[in-house]
Amino acid sequence: MSKKIVVITGSPRKNGNSFAMTDAFIKAAEGKGHTVTRFDAAMKKLNGCRACETCYSTGKACSFDDEFNTLAPEILEADAIVFTMPVYWYSIPAQIKNVIDRIFSLVVGGKDIAGKECALITCCEEEDMSVMDGVRIPIERTAALNKWKMVGEVLIPGVLKEGDIEKTDGCKQAAELADKI
Ligand SMILES: Cc1cc2nc3c(=O)[nH]c(=O)nc-3n(C[C@H](O)[C@H](O)[C@H](O)COP(=O)(O)O)c2cc1C
Repeated sequence: MSKKIVVITGSPRKNGNSFAMTDAFIKAAEGKGHTVTRFDAAMKKLNGCRACETCYSTGKACSFDDEFNTLAPEILEADAIVFTMPVYWYSIPAQIKNVIDRIFSLVVGGKDIAGKECALITCCEEEDMSVMDGVRIPIERTAALNKWKMVGEVLIPGVLKEGDIEKTDGCKQAAELADKI
């Protein structure tokens, strides 16, 4: 079945490791007939959540109208949300954290976002898999709260510089993730 997939990226490096895996995932997903909308958070102009809880009072998701409001309708319509990002200081990069925080508007706005699928692609320099806990656990818990089913995770350690991902099977794993959606 063809699905609508929203891919939200968090790296500012267009030739970086998570983008390479993102590209591999999207190519595979589109090859399976899915429709993919990509939102490169680091290249967008958007701020963090102001916690004003006036979501949807203007008709748009956020009362502070920026590029998040172009993403919100895509998330509402999506069958699956895929987050891709590197680890920054054992955590989620600020660039994509702003987007994740603002998904709060869909919750406050009472939108029905349950039942979607969710997946994660991430990577880091260090070899210790637990370094990715700071990304993996918040995404898993966010998915659980939103009643999204985690269908897969690609967690690649040991990549620092652009191109390092080619020394791993990260892109292969990312392409295979498309089989789980
Ligand atoms: C600001 C910043 C913080 C980082 N923090 C960590 C870290 O805590 N642990 C780690 O293993 N790698 C860390 N890294 C390395 C990146 O996770 C690594 O280079 C990754 O491959 C970058 O992915 P990208 O090419 O998709 O941007 C950090 C990199 C930057 C720029």
